[in-house]
Amino acid sequence: MAEIRRPDNMERITTPELAQAFIDEQIALARRQIGSNKVLLALSGGVDSSVVAALLIKAVGKQLVCVHVNHGLLRKGEPEQVIEVFRGQMDANLIYVDATDRFLDKLSGVTDPEQKRNIIGGEFIDVFAEEARKLDGIAFLAQGTIWPDILESEAGIKAHHNAGGLPEDIKDRFELVEPVRILFKDEVRMVGKQLGLPDNMVYRQPFPGPGLGVRCPGAITRDRLNLVRESDAILREEFKNAGLEGKVWQYFTIVPDFKSTGVRNGARCWEYPVVVRAVNTRDAMTAVVPELDWALLQKITQRIVNEVPGVNRVLLDMSPKPVATIEWE
Ligand code: XMP
Repeated sequence: MAEIRRPDNMERITTPELAQAFIDEQIALARRQIGSNKVLLALSGGVDSSVVAALLIKAVGKQLVCVHVNHGLLRKGEPEQVIEVFRGQMDANLIYVDATDRFLDKLSGVTDPEQKRNIIGGEFIDVFAEEARKLDGIAFLAQGTIWPDILESEAGIKAHHNAGGLPEDIKDRFELVEPVRILFKDEVRMVGKQLGLPDNMVYRQPFPGPGLGVRCPGAITRDRLNLVRESDAILREEFKNAGLEGKVWQYFTIVPDFKSTGVRNGARCWEYPVVVRAVNTRDAMTAVVPELDWALLQKITQRIVNEVPGVNRVLLDMSPKPVATIEWE
């Protein structure tokens, strides 16, 4: 297939009408390209792969086979939402793989951040490749590649992550389908909204591929992972209730690998702290910590120490980037 480029004079997709015209055009193109074949997609639940899934379901229905790999490092409610939206509402052909044990076993005792990332990335590819090998008659691989991915890989800023890591026997079997390849992120969101995806999927905060693994510094344990997941869910709920969703760029919690003393029910306790991280940024290269309402911070603190067993302190990370990165790893 000839390489598709974004035309220099292409109008930015800023209205539902323009989004619909793009969708109609891509449906026709995808039908022509895929014909009566099957197409495979790794559906993470992130904006780009979700929009590709919704678009291709409209184009080729059950010829699209989505694989959602739960690596055990997703946020609270995420795998459930992927299943509900794509299987429940869109009647997608969705294979759900709960690979939590496999990932956490491999990560057990590993403290080096790079090694953790490599294990998560490598294991993801292995699980996806295993699922792909089980399926017959699939000629195409769909990907949520977007225009900045292409520009960044051309500029040598980052390796184009998508099919890159797949083993040759898988890669060679498929032709790529990349229906949002010429879109910028805001346009992908516009198209996702027009396709009927829920707002919390379309306007989702950036979430790293290694997931909560980067928010659990040191060796990942199931108990600390659970504390990250539960405290993050409280933080997200309180930011939403305070009207901060979409106003603060990224917010999440981290659970370091040390404990400190506290007093609970009149007795000494020895529990983990939770760190709250909230930042505003334009491009994630630099970031500032927004001023947050004191009463909101008090409420979040109260809820986390009361509702998340095993946490006795809440700390606020006040560090801008640079010097600190946004994530803790
Ligand atoms: P840092 O921590 O480098 O993060 O200041 C900048 C932005 O990138 C996100 N991030 C990642 N995204 N894979 C991703 O897809 C990753 O491995 C990864 N690490 C960091 C981070 O959440 C922040 O928005």
